[in-house]
Amino acid sequence: MAAALTGLLAVSALAGCGDKGDDAGSGSSGGDGKLVLGFSQVGAESGWRTANTKSIQEAAAAAGYELKFSDAQGKQEKQIEAIRSFITQKVDVIAFSPVVTSGWDAVLKEAKDADIPVILTDRAVDSQDKSLYKSFLGSDFVKEGKEAGDWLVKQYEGKTDPVNVVELEGTVGAAPAIDRKKGFDEAITANPNIKVVKSQSGNFTRAEGKTVMESILQSTPKIDVLYAHNDDMGLGAIEAIEAAGKKPGTDIKIITVDAVKDGMTALSEGKINYIVECSPLLGPQLMDLAKKVHAGDTVEPRILTEETTFTQEQAKAALPTRKY
Ligand code: AHR
Repeated sequence: MAAALTGLLAVSALAGCGDKGDDAGSGSSGGDGKLVLGFSQVGAESGWRTANTKSIQEAAAAAGYELKFSDAQGKQEKQIEAIRSFITQKVDVIAFSPVVTSGWDAVLKEAKDADIPVILTDRAVDSQDKSLYKSFLGSDFVKEGKEAGDWLVKQYEGKTDPVNVVELEGTVGAAPAIDRKKGFDEAITANPNIKVVKSQSGNFTRAEGKTVMESILQSTPKIDVLYAHNDDMGLGAIEAIEAAGKKPGTDIKIITVDAVKDGMTALSEGKINYIVECSPLLGPQLMDLAKKVHAGDTVEPRILTEETTFTQEQAKAALPTRKY
């Protein structure tokens, strides 16, 4: 707990926000009248996550909130510790992006008992009791997976030759990994020639995307397509593919999710063939929601992020003004 508290204070200072004073009223705004938001982030596993953290920190500063930001380094136990620490500190609102979907009921109940509203951002939890949180703001990951699969099916329309797909999954048990797989499988199911021949987790990181792809390239003689659940794993895999003497985007078609700048650059260079966007810019909407739940207003239980898809040509056009 002490370590978690130290981390919280350190990152709050980095974000340019003061700490809530001891004399702050119970369950009300900070000593200086600012709304106090405790936010537990997954970690810094990807370009998407870095952009998401920046969006939240900037939006909190712009809204004039005091942000207590905690980085869980990919560990659920650290997130639970951080949320408990937010409860002890009597923040006004708690928001978090859950590392995995299950195992949250107990700590969410503690927040509810302490009368602190909780907002889920980016990722869902599988709690049956929906009263444990006020709203879930984020993407439709099943739709993202389906869009990736639909594009692939279109590329091979009218063809019956086998298409071998390698899938690099996100973190095991995380909502985007579960849902992007589900949506993709649904999209390709009517095409028996398109088969996922290998599916393994690369934990949403570039480094693991590379090492997992290196070993898959050695054990899988024919790979036609790579579907990576995020850009970073796809970019790591591209390094492995190039090191194996193959041309990414040509010898192996590549589909990824996110559309961060590095991914879009690889798409514009022809190394990736298609990207499904997942927007990390959740900060402004989160601040608006926090204000409303703090005021006791009713909010939508599910708020979907607006997203698009990119071909290589569209990436070239979008890159100059891409924000992340
Ligand atoms: O939850 C969103 C996912 O998490 C992003 O697609 C991925 O890059 C991140 O790590």
